[in-house]
Amino acid sequence: MPSPYRIAPSILSADFAALGQEVRDVVAAGADWIHFDVMDNHYVPNLTFGPMVCEALRKHAVRADGGQVPIDVHLMVQPVDALALAFAKAGADLISFHPDASAHVDRTLQLIKGAGCQAGLVFNPAAPIDVLEWVIDRVDLVLVMSVNPGFGGQSFIDSALRKIGQLRKLIDASGRDIRLEVDGGIKIDNIRRVADAGADTFVAGSAIFGQKDYRAVIDAMRTELAR
Ligand code: DX5
Ligand code: ZN
Repeated sequence: MPSPYRIAPSILSADFAALGQEVRDVVAAGADWIHFDVMDNHYVPNLTFGPMVCEALRKHAVRADGGQVPIDVHLMVQPVDALALAFAKAGADLISFHPDASAHVDRTLQLIKGAGCQAGLVFNPAAPIDVLEWVIDRVDLVLVMSVNPGFGGQSFIDSALRKIGQLRKLIDASGRDIRLEVDGGIKIDNIRRVADAGADTFVAGSAIFGQKDYRAVIDAMRTELAR
């Protein structure tokens, strides 16, 4: 049986002067998805990249067998809708947003799905998850922030484990095929604990791009997940 787990390196911690090469390297190292952190200096106090960069990098996210590696766009922006559509046009496969950044969460989800992408909701460490109950039929991905969004390299906040557990129950009860992704402070030495809590998809920025050998880190994470 193939592994249910996915590892999504965040290029936020990559060398910005060589992003194309970084994406190729991390794909060659076994990345399942490419996580793309979009920050607007409004919703979060930092500024990264937009749809044009996404479009340029997508061509580099290709496996040796020619398969496209999904581009997992994490929008930390407010407002959401116009940029979500721009990222759909730029070739994003999954687009997630923070419900507190959209005035009309259901409409934003419809917009993303209507543009042919999978749609995700992101929950900050202190955010309640009750909104999910009302839109779970439209959601393909739930992303739990285990740090406060805005920066790579922060420490994992433990309360995320409890939130992951609650979300796992809701997702299983829905019977729908929804990915449960975790973002922030994921390392080789805590990934197993996070999987045990119920997560199946793991964003890792500094843990991967902070080391020379990306494959060694991704392989070590998979070994932990297979234990
Ligand atoms: C934070 C971003 C994360 C970040 C994770 O706002 O959403 O994706 O890159 O970085 P690490 O793995 O270094 O905590
Ligand atoms: Zn992210």
